[in-house]
Amino acid sequence: MSRKIRWGILSTANIGRERVIPAIQQSRNGEVAAVASRSLDRARAFAAGLGIPRAYGSYEELIADPEIDAIYNPLPNSEHAPWSIRCAEGGKPVLCEKPLASDADETRRMVEAFTSRGLSFAEAFMYRFHPQTVQMKRLVDEGAVGQIKAISSAFTFSIRREDDIRLNDALAGGALMDVGCYCVNVMRLLTGEEPHRAGAVAQFGASSRVDESLAGVLFFPSGAVGHFDCGFRTFRANFCELRGTDGRIVAEPVFNMEPDYAPTLRLWRGETYETISVPAANHYTLMAEDFAEALLENRPPRYAPADGIRNMQAIDLLYAAARA
Ligand SMILES: NC(=O)c1ccc[n+]([C@@H]2O[C@H](COP(=O)([O-])OP(=O)(O)OC[C@H]3O[C@@H](n4cnc5c(N)ncnc54)[C@H](OP(=O)(O)O)[C@@H]3O)[C@@H](O)[C@H]2O)c1
Repeated sequence: MSRKIRWGILSTANIGRERVIPAIQQSRNGEVAAVASRSLDRARAFAAGLGIPRAYGSYEELIADPEIDAIYNPLPNSEHAPWSIRCAEGGKPVLCEKPLASDADETRRMVEAFTSRGLSFAEAFMYRFHPQTVQMKRLVDEGAVGQIKAISSAFTFSIRREDDIRLNDALAGGALMDVGCYCVNVMRLLTGEEPHRAGAVAQFGASSRVDESLAGVLFFPSGAVGHFDCGFRTFRANFCELRGTDGRIVAEPVFNMEPDYAPTLRLWRGETYETISVPAANHYTLMAEDFAEALLENRPPRYAPADGIRNMQAIDLLYAAARA
């Protein structure tokens, strides 16, 4: 294997073009070697615009390319599992977009396709690599806020296109799938626990039939309660607030972060209040570097794929509650 991981990109998705491909191109141990699209013309135009050497008119050709070491999968949610499994069958490690699949059962089958072959697989929750998230987790683990009692979070924005994949039920769209999955993930990350019960209310679109907004509650075994809202029709926000027996931490923004933005964590600890300056970072680059380094050093990526199964289990609980 070459010293730099040669990435292949599955589709001409916006998130690849705008964020992940430039991030890989800036990474110390990766390069983008090829892109595949269902349309060769689209793949060629996309490759030309981003300086990608090879373009394929089918996903199969990319998976079969022996000069690709790893694949980034930013397909619509319903396509994550089928195509990731095709990659595993072709012997390719995959960094797959969130949420990993349509539900926990499908996620389990997908993860099994990789673990049974000893191939690396990870969910692309980039915010976990940001130094702010790392710092927040460290503070919580050090007991800076005491015992966690409540976490609140939101991730909302105003969707621009009515034909967006996020509003398509058949492609496993929905606000919880698209942005609420981050709120669920940060609550599980900070508590280090899995929710055993959930409540939710949702507004389903009349024509889209997906949850266009959803408010959820997660109950954790320690007694911590997480509550959040997510949606496509509300002004943009992404934050996380955590309150324990002895303190409080606020991180905003927390999920979407410009690479040149240096965030500030706000920490109330007993009677003291402090702000903690965090350096700017491109969390997509950090995530891609971790995945590539894991391959080069023959170690697992920082976050195990089983975490993605557990995140989907929590999402399944929330949808069951919202539909009840
Ligand atoms: N981590 C993040 O920050 C972040 C941000 C945004 C999105 N995401 C995730 O990334 C994924 C893609 O989101 P996006 O907004 O970038 O999507 P998008 O721009 O709509 O791109 C999806 C791509 O999938 C391919 N595709 C294959 N089957 C399709 C179908 N039936 N309908 C539509 N497209 C199909 C298309 O590429 P070809 O035509 O070239 O084959 C299309 O360009 C989602 O899972 C989303 O949750 C992550």
